[in-house]
Amino acid sequence: MNKYWWKESIVYQIYPRSFKDSNGDGIGDLRGIIEKLDYLKELGVDVLWLSPVYESPNDDNGYDISNYKGIMKEFGTIEDFDLLLAEAHNRKIKIMMDLVINHSSDEHQWFIESKKSKTNKYRDYYIWRDGKDGLPPNNWGGCFGGSAWELDPQSQMYYLHLFSKKQPDLNWENENLRKEIFSMMKWWLEKGIDGFRMDVINMIGKDQSYPDGIINGISIYADPGNLSKNHPKVHDYLQEMNKEVLSKYDIITVGEAPDVTPSQAIEFVGEDRNELNMVFEFEHMSVGDGPEGKWGETTFDLGEFKTIMSKWQSKLQGKGWNSLYLNNHDQPRMVSRFGNDNKYRIESAKMLATFLHMLTGTPYIYQGEEIGMTNVKFDSINDYKDIETLNAYKGFTESGKKSHNEIMDAIYKRGRDNARTPFQWNDKNNAGFTDGNPWIKVNPNYKYINAQAQLDDENSIFNYYKKVIRLRKKYEIIVYGDYNLILEDNKYIYSYTRKLNDEILLVICNFCENPVLFSIPKDIKYDRKELLISNYIVDIDSIDEIMLKPYEARVYLLKNKA
Ligand code: GLC
Ligand code: CA
Repeated sequence: MNKYWWKESIVYQIYPRSFKDSNGDGIGDLRGIIEKLDYLKELGVDVLWLSPVYESPNDDNGYDISNYKGIMKEFGTIEDFDLLLAEAHNRKIKIMMDLVINHSSDEHQWFIESKKSKTNKYRDYYIWRDGKDGLPPNNWGGCFGGSAWELDPQSQMYYLHLFSKKQPDLNWENENLRKEIFSMMKWWLEKGIDGFRMDVINMIGKDQSYPDGIINGISIYADPGNLSKNHPKVHDYLQEMNKEVLSKYDIITVGEAPDVTPSQAIEFVGEDRNELNMVFEFEHMSVGDGPEGKWGETTFDLGEFKTIMSKWQSKLQGKGWNSLYLNNHDQPRMVSRFGNDNKYRIESAKMLATFLHMLTGTPYIYQGEEIGMTNVKFDSINDYKDIETLNAYKGFTESGKKSHNEIMDAIYKRGRDNARTPFQWNDKNNAGFTDGNPWIKVNPNYKYINAQAQLDDENSIFNYYKKVIRLRKKYEIIVYGDYNLILEDNKYIYSYTRKLNDEILLVICNFCENPVLFSIPKDIKYDRKELLISNYIVDIDSIDEIMLKPYEARVYLLKNKA
């Protein structure tokens, strides 16, 4: 497998609005990020992915861009951005920009023009269709609820928006649009940024006949599925983008790809495909989904999780690279979801870090994960800010499908604001995030979960992350070794090996809060072993049989005489 720096890197995701406020207006900003670069350097990450910092009316917190070359007023200026880039580069940290090009904001100049008339030069930059008998052109539903089509009263035509109606989809069929996007990407790359995270990039190609999708009975609208996801057209566009832009720079690219399967993913990331370096797949993020998707959750099943993770590890092996993540700005906090955010918060956060960072792929850390930040429970729906959460609350309560308590429980488990509460820097006012009024409430547990308390505590989650990150830099096997699942049927332990030349990396993770017995499979042979990391003090250092403690994790390097 070819070696690249982006396979050997660790990416840290910043959600700027919630990271650090530098001027007391309650909103995180670019200067706030600059203040914290030394903290990130200390952690040891290589690349920062910034969730969108472009000009935006913030219908979806920046994922609705009104000017691709301008900085959101609340976040600062383009000079602040240049300073951030220079300061990050001084510390040998790279910057990856979010790029939202499936849709723009309805306040983007292109859409304002497009709406003006059917003959406007920009009309075709968006997707306009006639309705059918007073109804939208087809039955597609938007990801945030309701129809994916909005009627424009003036022209009496509908425009497509797979997200909110303030996020009209761009028409990638239009060559001028593609050219403008590519030149905008070059503009950022010429500034010196180091890569792009591409928002819902597998949705830019659409079936041009816009047929109805299949109704699953939960909603009156259909999920467009492969009519707008992983459509063959997306590969034409990405190959063109690669040729015109990406291939000219030594950068990192990751495409967000909801509903992608491993074989579809290889079409995006296969090393002979000339498209992207890696994708964010979603299959493991849907584990435990019920019929209503994330809002109708069933219980977490380690067996299902193992099957999904292993499938992705094995199917991409030797064919294409992947990303590794357990949470981000759209998902609940990983320690609350896959670990135990109460009695074993520290142990389980460290176990999950071990589990993820020893896998094949580029690991992503979401801000606050490295200090074990947890989900939040606000008493009132009015304290929530996320458009998806608010729409779901409205939809379920108005239709009578869920009671107030039921939908609040679902929000506590899976709502996006779990990840968006301010970063907890210290135990002072507002967790040290702002001197003003934070745009969203701080999680009250900042009194004991905060970065300051962890920096000097050698047993903290933060310092454990530092060690995990350094291991990856030291041992090639962690980056390039082949993955193999062991103890497949064990319901409590997730254990796997990585193999490179005559070395074996053995990773043992107890995913439950009870002690469990681990026994090494007979076919794993070794002459010498070395414990690389563990989240408990290891007293009996034998691996034939280990009585694993709650959420215990250990990693061994096994060597054979050459
Ligand atoms: C992606 C983003 C999410 C956003 C959506 C629409 O899924 O991660 O935050 O709401 O795309 O842009
Ligand atoms: Ca601010």
